Amino acid sequence: MASCSCGETTDQSKEAAMQKVFDQYRDIKGGLIPVLQEAQDIYGYLPKEVLQQIAKELKLPYSNVFGVCTFYAQFHLQPRGRNIIRICLGTACHVRGGAKIFEAAQEALGVGQGGTTEDLRFTLETVACIGACGLSPCMMVNDNTHGRLKPLEVAGIFETYK
Ligand code: FES
Repeated sequence: MASCSCGETTDQSKEAAMQKVFDQYRDIKGGLIPVLQEAQDIYGYLPKEVLQQIAKELKLPYSNVFGVCTFYAQFHLQPRGRNIIRICLGTACHVRGGAKIFEAAQEALGVGQGGTTEDLRFTLETVACIGACGLSPCMMVNDNTHGRLKPLEVAGIFETYK
């Protein structure tokens, strides 16, 4: 995908990438999900105008396209942060203070569950278990697991992600 000198992918190159996706899936039955996945990879989320374009290109009612997006958790209708934080509130983490870790994260970022910081640096989410119960309370930032957390450490960990 082409980029301008500032490193941002241009709108034009995003549109060109979408045209390739439409060319690939336009006549394929069941092409909606892969088109949505590719669109989300290109834009980082699924803006309304893009959903409208997808409906038009695939000759589907907009309500169908929108309905699929809201049904599957993998699709995001709002911009997401460059770094995705997942605070574990599963049983093991809960009994070891997971809620306090979540509170500290909310305070550090100024957003709540599902929120994204204005600078698009972070999105904050909660999960039921990340499979690292022995490290509870824990969280993931992108693909990294941070365990045996203390509330006071949380902001400092976020600082290491740009
Ligand atoms: S409950 Fe938190 S990692 Fe399993």
